[in-house]
Amino acid sequence: MEQQLEERLAKAPVVPLVGGSDPAIAVETAIALHAGGLGIIEVVLRTDEAVDCMEAIAKQTSGLIVGAGTVLTVGQAEEVIARGAQFVVSPGLVDEVAEYCLERSVPLFAGTMTAGEVQRAYALGLRTVKFFPASLAGGVPMLKALSSVFRHMKFMPTGGVTASNLGDFLAVPSVVACGGSWLTPAAEIDAGNFEPITNLAREAVNIASAARPKG
Ligand code: 3PG
Repeated sequence: MEQQLEERLAKAPVVPLVGGSDPAIAVETAIALHAGGLGIIEVVLRTDEAVDCMEAIAKQTSGLIVGAGTVLTVGQAEEVIARGAQFVVSPGLVDEVAEYCLERSVPLFAGTMTAGEVQRAYALGLRTVKFFPASLAGGVPMLKALSSVFRHMKFMPTGGVTASNLGDFLAVPSVVACGGSWLTPAAEIDAGNFEPITNLAREAVNIASAARPKG
């Protein structure tokens, strides 16, 4: 899975966050994002029905890699993996969650924002971490500072990433992808408008191509 995920991220290094509590709407949202060129979806565990939404996307769509975000505990990691999560994202770094995912070779993007947290992630064996909340944790200058000392680490900035700063984050060579909820505005989804979601995904893909021109 790790290799598949890396290949997909290399093509479109953007991970949209999908929330909500209605599995059918979550599936429609995922399909709209895929139509815009994004093949990886993170369903955030912020409602009681979020795992149902993630499972529905995993079962009812094809060609997408689906993971779970806002995973706080080993119990949640266990549940989401059992129900189809192909990767796990946490807002912070908890050793037990990291060890659980590493033992099962499930890619984990654990949140870090300080040198100490990145170093702990490195010591645990993680080589890619989430940088969260990216804009408040120092943005691009902080990422560059962390990257200069942790030369084997890769980062997924998330938190405050939008179309206006996506290109700046992706221009940092250690950035493997950016995550964010700007691609799934609740107002459009609640109104049943999925075309704007596809357009936002397409815009992100274009920004990514410009930020990382193919060699
Ligand atoms: C996360 O869970 O990673 C963040 O809440 C995403 O932040 P954003 O809503 O600013 O994209």
